[in-house]
Amino acid sequence: MKNTVVTIRQAKERGEKLTMLTAYDYSMAKLVDEAGINMILVGDSLGMVMLGYEDTLSVTMEDMIHHTRAVARGADHTLVVADMPFMSYQTSVYDAVCNAGRLMKEGRAQAVKLEGGSEFAEHIRAITNASIPVVAHLGLTPQSLNAFGGFKVQGKSEQAARKLLADAKAVEEAGAVAVVLECVPAKLAELITKQLQIPTIGIGAGAGCDGQVLVFQDMLAMFGDFKPKFVKQFAQVGDMMKEAFAKYIEEVKSGAFPAPEHTFKIEDDVIEKLY
Ligand code: KIV
Repeated sequence: MKNTVVTIRQAKERGEKLTMLTAYDYSMAKLVDEAGINMILVGDSLGMVMLGYEDTLSVTMEDMIHHTRAVARGADHTLVVADMPFMSYQTSVYDAVCNAGRLMKEGRAQAVKLEGGSEFAEHIRAITNASIPVVAHLGLTPQSLNAFGGFKVQGKSEQAARKLLADAKAVEEAGAVAVVLECVPAKLAELITKQLQIPTIGIGAGAGCDGQVLVFQDMLAMFGDFKPKFVKQFAQVGDMMKEAFAKYIEEVKSGAFPAPEHTFKIEDDVIEKLY
């Protein structure tokens, strides 16, 4: 069954949990799709985990379109959501609609995600009016890293919690089809989830959300630079890869690889004529 913004909404109504993972290329998208994950996020986290930047700020529209296109080719059943990178929508409502349109038209995304609450309600409404589904992103919004003064849990004081709840209602009212809650206290995320009709997708926001999202390199232990508290490593794929690389080095050096079964043949009389 194809996941769409309609089936995602119906899942919340049925009380069925939703799953989302990041993917940034064709082969990973195929694996995620075949596993039955509901949504792929082509996150601007690709700047850190794929391109080696220290944050997401340098990611461009061209980066996002390039990776989204690759993912879309591998995702048959999974809903593909593409992140709007820093400064692709903050500058104006017009830019927001144009760039969201490029992610759909050129990247073949099925929804876009943008960071921010009530201050971007007008942007969300305009993108939605252009028939582009929008996923909002609240709490720790990494594009605001410099304004926050670092990666910190959001919404802990009464005032901050009230603002987060109001933002969640504002983005829903503006037409968002779902909202990512990042690094938000679990009880606050649960309260927001109960007060919204649209699904909440948590990352570091506890089990009370309607769904969960993780960066695939984090959950497969492939990214050693930093492990946030909210990450669970479901497999040690990074170690498995390093072991395989070491074995490859050993076998190439010893001559064990390639073996006869990895080798193409030629008739002896043909080769003899070449000597
Ligand atoms: O870019 C990303 O991967 C994200 C998730 C962390 C939600 O925004």
